[in-house]
Amino acid sequence: DMGGHDTYMHKEIHEQADAVDRVLRGRIDDRFSTVHLGGLNLDAREARRIRRVKILGCGTSYHAGMIGAQMIEELARIPADAEPASEFRYRNAVVDPDTLYVAVSQSGETYDVLAAVQELKRKGARVLGVVNVVGSAIAREADGGIYVHAGPEVCVVSTKCFTNTTVAFALLALHLGRTRDLSVRDGKRIIEGLRKLPTQIAEILKQEEQVRELAEEYAQSRSMLFIGRVRGYPVAREASLKLKEITYIHAEAYPASELKHGPLALIEPALPTVAIVPDDDLLEKNRAALEEIKARSGKILAVAHREQEKADRTIVVPKNEDELDPILMGIPLQLLAYHAAKVLGRDIDKPRNLAKSVTVE
Ligand code: M6R
Repeated sequence: DMGGHDTYMHKEIHEQADAVDRVLRGRIDDRFSTVHLGGLNLDAREARRIRRVKILGCGTSYHAGMIGAQMIEELARIPADAEPASEFRYRNAVVDPDTLYVAVSQSGETYDVLAAVQELKRKGARVLGVVNVVGSAIAREADGGIYVHAGPEVCVVSTKCFTNTTVAFALLALHLGRTRDLSVRDGKRIIEGLRKLPTQIAEILKQEEQVRELAEEYAQSRSMLFIGRVRGYPVAREASLKLKEITYIHAEAYPASELKHGPLALIEPALPTVAIVPDDDLLEKNRAALEEIKARSGKILAVAHREQEKADRTIVVPKNEDELDPILMGIPLQLLAYHAAKVLGRDIDKPRNLAKSVTVE
């Protein structure tokens, strides 16, 4: 049942405020400015012994994991990174007993992720799952984890589950942080930020008409470049994946910092750039990148916390805490991809060549 929406994707995009509410529900502990994660199966002593976090997932779940890794480094100060599970399982990776492994999956059935989990478990590693589907193979195989409670996601391309997964990672980062050196004050700050998310998501979705107009223009592009720096980079990657999956427009994501090391050669009026420009300590650096693109007559659409003069158009999104901004900044770009796909008459819920869960090698 699509409840008045023309596609599941549209419905699922609009369910995100409620979905985020669900992933937060019952987990915030104001007394200690932390969160309770009942299924984690990791006591405080164990949590303190973690020396490294390695996050594994595919596609959109991998991108959510990249955001998660940054949150864990920032809030818990544990070195963390994300890697496609599909790569990890084939490279005879060193499995380290002091590393916490986290497998991320909407379906909980993605074979590349499951195979990585099984290999890790066989070697004695501790593996947590950040999974949407309750009781799925990866959830069962993991030592513990966090359910992301996005609700059923039907559209082949992931939207609300991505958002909820990034929130689940914020909870994990906060929990690990407060078990270690994150101050009560910072814990409170993050909790306040988390509580604002549902309202801020609703605010973003109110701009749909403006984004739809932009989509009409961008749907005619042959190719698009997505850039972001540090917190903005995984957002750019996910937006680029969404666009290519449902519009079949070629899109490429690059760290904004790498522009001058190559992709600047591509810039011309026919290659529009979408830039993620958060109001954080890197704002000036990102503005300089916009200037570089402008100087080469590149067209720019910015997603930012305030109007960007160097951009042709800016989608302004509400500001949260710096660490949580990536949760929100990609949401207007889900709408951009959706409306561009509509203009092009694509089969949005079932893009060609793709399946909702990839249970084969
Ligand atoms: O169910 P999973 O999260 O494990 O799926 C992983 C990927 O196959 C999935 O995210 C894929 O990239 C989607 N089509 C993204 O929209």
